[in-house]
Amino acid sequence: MKVIKTIKQMQLFSLKAKQNKKTIGFVPTMGYLHEGHLSLIRRSKKENDITILSIFVNPAQFGPKEDFKKYPRDKKQDEVLAKKEKVDIIFYPSIKKMYPMGYLTYINIGKTANVLCGKSRPGHFQGVATIVAKLINGVTPNAIYLGQKDAQQAIVVKRMVEDLNWNLTVRTLPIVREKDGLAMSSRNSYLNSQERKQAACLYQSLIVAKKIIRSGERRSTKIIEKVKKVVLKNPGAKIDYVACVDAKTLKPTKMIYKKTLIALAIFIGKTRLIDNIIIDA
Ligand code: PAJ
Repeated sequence: MKVIKTIKQMQLFSLKAKQNKKTIGFVPTMGYLHEGHLSLIRRSKKENDITILSIFVNPAQFGPKEDFKKYPRDKKQDEVLAKKEKVDIIFYPSIKKMYPMGYLTYINIGKTANVLCGKSRPGHFQGVATIVAKLINGVTPNAIYLGQKDAQQAIVVKRMVEDLNWNLTVRTLPIVREKDGLAMSSRNSYLNSQERKQAACLYQSLIVAKKIIRSGERRSTKIIEKVKKVVLKNPGAKIDYVACVDAKTLKPTKMIYKKTLIALAIFIGKTRLIDNIIIDA
């Protein structure tokens, strides 16, 4: 496994790989790797000759009052895990190289960025789109691997790739969960043991939603109401949003149908967690 730290070196490596007719799969992350990240790496390994993993905690996607400074980092452990998965390259760009003094250019994705998580986190998706674009320009992959855990992020990236005519496949893979259903996330490490138990309510509430939809309820308002009720049984939980939207456009849906995305963001104590399901029937 090789470690690359500059964009120039990254571009040079990818250019050579392409000249040798190798395909490149790319897994962008902010590190503190868990099974969710590893599932993306494994799929990339299956589908490409070379797998590149980037680790970069991107300041541009954190709000001024958010957790950029305390975001969990463990470079050594990440390297052990990446090596075990036979990642070919870890790309570790520095903040100074990514956003040098006087940096100006940001990608604006319009409406999609201003709903759901974008509403609660102004500027977040502009930061995500910008860093993903910069990383793609460095790695020049054939395919990029993203998790459904961050459903809106996957849509934003897909849209950017389409709109900018990049010759690149965007793959969105299923959410990897803990035994009690909690979606794996680097931020789960913020939870104390009591909060950790309560955090299972995100997925539990989505399962309840699925059940009542199966038994015939189609009105989004009723489903949102029920989800909120399940979540709020936990004294430590506070609702940021619960929404029923079209899984492709993220437009709110009055009635549930196949491909409705039920998405939520919940504070457990001070930690903001997200989860979602897509209705498949
Ligand atoms: P990060 O939160 O580290 O996640 C990296 C990738 O792993 C994302 O595509 C995310 O959706 C996926 N992922 C996280 N948890 C997952 C889970 N439980 N199951 C499946 N996939 C999961 O998302 C980011 O970093 C950043 O915004 C980034 C795209 C790297 C841009 O900075």
